[in-house]
Amino acid sequence: MQKLFIPVLLGTSRQGRFSEKPANLIFQQLKQRENIEAVLIDPRSLNLPETDDGRNLAALNPEYMDIVSRMDGMIIVSPEYNHSFPGTLKRILDMADPEYKKKAVLIAGVSNGEIGGARMIEALNTVLKALGLSVTQYDLKFFKVNELFDVTGNILDQTYIKKIERGIDDLIWMSQALKIAREKN
Ligand SMILES: Cc1cc2nc3c(=O)[nH]c(=O)nc-3n(C[C@H](O)[C@H](O)[C@H](O)COP(=O)(O)O)c2cc1C
Repeated sequence: MQKLFIPVLLGTSRQGRFSEKPANLIFQQLKQRENIEAVLIDPRSLNLPETDDGRNLAALNPEYMDIVSRMDGMIIVSPEYNHSFPGTLKRILDMADPEYKKKAVLIAGVSNGEIGGARMIEALNTVLKALGLSVTQYDLKFFKVNELFDVTGNILDQTYIKKIERGIDDLIWMSQALKIAREKN
């Protein structure tokens, strides 16, 4: 298998955010895979002034632009805010466009409720399709995230480990297939 570059993008910069725990766990599991180069993108490290939007912000975020240009697939880990995704995530995604085309994405929803960000996943699908990203069929849903991790960030329900592995498998398969197709055309 060719080496794949897969960033993990966290969808919120909220103080006290729980979503960083599943994002870290997914990143750690992804990093352990052979032939995968992984990075974790924290929205707090990006420069997103309120006075502009879209491609104009790309020049302020060369590292993000380099990542999305080079990536073969990505994992978005995002909480559900009022049945959708955080505005921060949308502003980050809006910085690029052709860089995303024909690349794969796995969505991980997070909430402290019972449905693990399922409504956010549905809403985000429409945006990702508009950007030309191909969403995997399988997605991840972290329910009751406020009770799911201990204080040091260890997950208390081990069944998630298998679910994350399955999500990563799906993403790798699709990223690999699209990489081969992109290189042929
Ligand atoms: C502005 C806002 C809106 C929210 N809306 C929802 C919601 O629609 N559905 C839900 O299950 N949880 C909602 N939550 C709670 C999140 O599920 C909770 O904060 C969880 O810890 C994940 O988000 P976090 O990474 O910001 O902590 C909301 C939280 C915030 C801050």
